[in-house]
Amino acid sequence: MGDQDFVKSSEAQIAVHWQEEDKFYPSASFIAQANMTDAEIYKRFGLENFPECYKEYADLLTWDKYWHTTLDTSDAPSWKWFVGGKINASFNCIDRHLPLHKNKAAIIWVPEPEDEPHVVITFQELYVRVNEYASLLQDFVGLKTGDRVTIHMPMVPELPITMLACARLGVIHSVVFGGFSGKACGERIADSGSRVLITMDGYYRNGKLLDHQEKTKLAVDAAEENGQKVDKVLVWKRYRDQNSSEVAMVKDRDFYVNDLLPEYTGKRVAPVPMPAEAPLFLMYTSGTTGNPKGCQHSTGGYLAYAAGTSKFVQDIHPEDVYWCMADIGWITGHSYIVYGPLVLAATSVMYEGVPGFPDPGRAWRIAEQLDVNIFHTAPTTVRMLRKAGPDEPQKYNYHFKHMTTVGEPIEPEVWKWYYNVVGKGEAVIVDTYWQTETGGFLCSTMPALQAMKPGSAGPGVPGIHPVIYDEDENEVEAGSGIAGNICIRNPWPGAFQTIWGDRERYVKTYYEKYNKDPKSKDWRDWPYFTGDAAVLAEDGYFRILGRVDDVINVAGHRLGTKELESACLVVPEIAEAAVVPVADEIKGKVPDIYVALKPGIKPSKKIEEAIISEIETSIGKIARPKHVYIVPDMPKTRSGKIMRRVLASISNRGDIGDVTTLANPEIVDNILKMVQGN
Ligand code: WTA
Repeated sequence: MGDQDFVKSSEAQIAVHWQEEDKFYPSASFIAQANMTDAEIYKRFGLENFPECYKEYADLLTWDKYWHTTLDTSDAPSWKWFVGGKINASFNCIDRHLPLHKNKAAIIWVPEPEDEPHVVITFQELYVRVNEYASLLQDFVGLKTGDRVTIHMPMVPELPITMLACARLGVIHSVVFGGFSGKACGERIADSGSRVLITMDGYYRNGKLLDHQEKTKLAVDAAEENGQKVDKVLVWKRYRDQNSSEVAMVKDRDFYVNDLLPEYTGKRVAPVPMPAEAPLFLMYTSGTTGNPKGCQHSTGGYLAYAAGTSKFVQDIHPEDVYWCMADIGWITGHSYIVYGPLVLAATSVMYEGVPGFPDPGRAWRIAEQLDVNIFHTAPTTVRMLRKAGPDEPQKYNYHFKHMTTVGEPIEPEVWKWYYNVVGKGEAVIVDTYWQTETGGFLCSTMPALQAMKPGSAGPGVPGIHPVIYDEDENEVEAGSGIAGNICIRNPWPGAFQTIWGDRERYVKTYYEKYNKDPKSKDWRDWPYFTGDAAVLAEDGYFRILGRVDDVINVAGHRLGTKELESACLVVPEIAEAAVVPVADEIKGKVPDIYVALKPGIKPSKKIEEAIISEIETSIGKIARPKHVYIVPDMPKTRSGKIMRRVLASISNRGDIGDVTTLANPEIVDNILKMVQGN
């Protein structure tokens, strides 16, 4: 493609150059058993039926007091859903299932060491444990409705037990990803105003029993530096009869939960009926600038949205074995490991460790053993598993009916491996686009109703009405090949209510850009600004290009980094690719490309040339990279996201900043030497 073939776009617009992908269709057997096979759902959830349509989701729940007003906009843009209603999340995830499902597995926990037995917790057992722990939190810790508690725990069943015990009391939980440092945890403790920290002594990761409790001191110190005293630390034990940490307990502050619990044997706590709009939890998320933002999620609206999307997009039935490989420390784990599946009485599988430990077959062995039929993970994990063991899935006898991808754009090449090899060509895939802030899915195909298109999330899910605006607030037309800011026209029950303690920042970050009138109480004047760039195809499918700031402006042409990365992955030897902008005197910015190869493949000039040629063919000469670096691995966060910021600093010879929190900080020096030769 020559430069002259570019889609014409103004400075406010981004032209994209995706090739249309072929569509894939759900199988007849999937459709036959699906929860949602009625295309009328899009009509029922059309804007003309907004907001009343969401009654359908609210009615998946059991209310202590039924609500009277679907949506109250009087405090716009902080939306109140199902006003007048009272509900308890713990009751909805546990108690109400007891008559039919008490003896069914709620949680199956798979420890990382393969010789440790799985732990199966039935709904009855979950009921007992949550009650006893809630009773402890109430009596021993003195927690009450509206208090905040910070939970810094790994992937163990005690984590959802703790969350559900908090929810039972109307205590607001703030789960901090276990892999985060003590300092990061402490800052979040302070921001949320928690006086209680709940943690664990240790956990397994990559074959090592990590001392997690050593982060406590740093967390408590950082909280205090930021003005919040922590007066109790509750420590769960990884092994009941043994300490997994060297850290000494601080007298009168630190307590082992397992020592206290026997006193609460047999205790029951009545679930507190909470107003629908009472906060259920906070989940911190990072923006490009500033402190992490505590996204405040409601009880009734959030739970209704988690239930509806789990039922219809995840297609979860009570008899399914559902495994989401995310960490509960992220929003995906909250909505689609804990609240969504449990509210539907499904069996939710939790895995403690690294998917590729001790070998790339591990995930598929777990799937085979537990007969998992719904599988949910992120593109970064799919790429990692594909790189480490491209032929592993076929060695195991499992059958997925449904698979999800979430969290970042998935390159069509990777999607096809997921479909053909992991899914064995039998499973339907949903590419779910959403955010911490949104509580649940924004865009995805409905699995039995629409075809899949590799690399595209799909249309807005029922009740979500996305729109693409350019910088000048014009709507970008479907099929124009122009990308812009994807926004949502309407509120929905899963949307967060505010940033904890900072309403001004909430309004400014998510609503100011396209708001028509700051005084308006009409939701139509408040499109939600996601901060992502996307392009809308003729068929109504959205393709997400990544954060708005992830664009590279080459000689006035704004190129999406994802688009370039996707092209690299067409080259068969490439396992992972990251593209970063590097300053160029003439063109402003040009892309630098970092790639990691599939196992057993040696770097060569030929591979570099193949990448350049692929980029020139699929995007154009203008996107020609300045350099192609074949690296042994990508610098990654603990949650597996490639740290493009670090690579960009290396390319631009800038300050790399703190890399100690990365999963693999040692790789940074390695790449530095390769790029800068020092
Ligand atoms: C990106 C994770 C493309 C997007 C649930 C969003 C995606 C950010 C997708 C939110 C997807 C999420 N395709 N991009 N299917 N899903 N993203 O808050 O940039 O951890 O804004 O929530 O991830 O990340 P967060």
